[in-house]
Amino acid sequence: MIRRAQSAVNSRTKSARAWFRRGAGRIYGWACERLYRELAWSYEGVAAAVSLGRWGAWRRMALAEAVGPRVLELGFGTGALLVEGSRRFQMVGLDPSPEMQRVAGRRLAAHGLQGLRVAGCAQALPFADGCMDTVLATFPAEYILERATLAECARVLVLGGRLVIGGLWVSAELGGWERWIPVFFGAPPEAGRAAWPARLGEAGFAARIVEPCDGRFRVGMIIGERMRTSPCVEGDTHA
Ligand SMILES: C[S@@+](CC[C@H](N)C(=O)[O-])C[C@H]1O[C@@H](n2cnc3c(N)ncnc32)[C@H](O)[C@@H]1O
Repeated sequence: MIRRAQSAVNSRTKSARAWFRRGAGRIYGWACERLYRELAWSYEGVAAAVSLGRWGAWRRMALAEAVGPRVLELGFGTGALLVEGSRRFQMVGLDPSPEMQRVAGRRLAAHGLQGLRVAGCAQALPFADGCMDTVLATFPAEYILERATLAECARVLVLGGRLVIGGLWVSAELGGWERWIPVFFGAPPEAGRAAWPARLGEAGFAARIVEPCDGRFRVGMIIGERMRTSPCVEGDTHA
């Protein structure tokens, strides 16, 4: 009897926790969406605040993994990495948010750069097969691990080309304080560690996880080398 009551309490606690997590996840998703749209003007400030000023450095860690000359940046946001990348590579960026496009447009114009960006979604890339050497995404939203996105990345990359996904997670050692900000600093779930490279594998990539250090932070990245055509884009004759 007592055991049954205890297990009822346990299962209620578990479902309350799951409900809370789902609710928090939805609020977080909603807040991110606002940041990509009407609050795009505040994005850089928020990113700098939550990363204790390291966001730019973490983006550059991903850029350092790119191989040129042709680099496509997915979800370029405010365009900061397009500016940096264009010093070394032929950069082009894609982002669906008109507000981010405006912010990035202003930044690019201030650096005398034009024509580096298109509007669109990673799930349907407006680029020819095999025309990129690297596809890069930093701090991407959930779209990045969708099968349609990965198939498109495989399609536009040359054989041996590279997919670099930077900032999928950031873990930190801040003397215990990191426990209070798990939204921004947390190790990836163990399931993700195994599942994400496998998901890239299905799309035709040989993928590995790397976690370079930046002081007290470790920035989680997945790097995939394109080995073959994704099963979703069978018939790609450029493979
Ligand atoms: C968290 S921001 C990252 C911006 C920038 N890469 C950075 O490092 O700060 C995510 C960006 O992905 C864009 N995005 C959302 N859905 C997308 C999709 N399906 N395809 C490409 N970009 C997308 C958003 O508009 C936003 O600019």
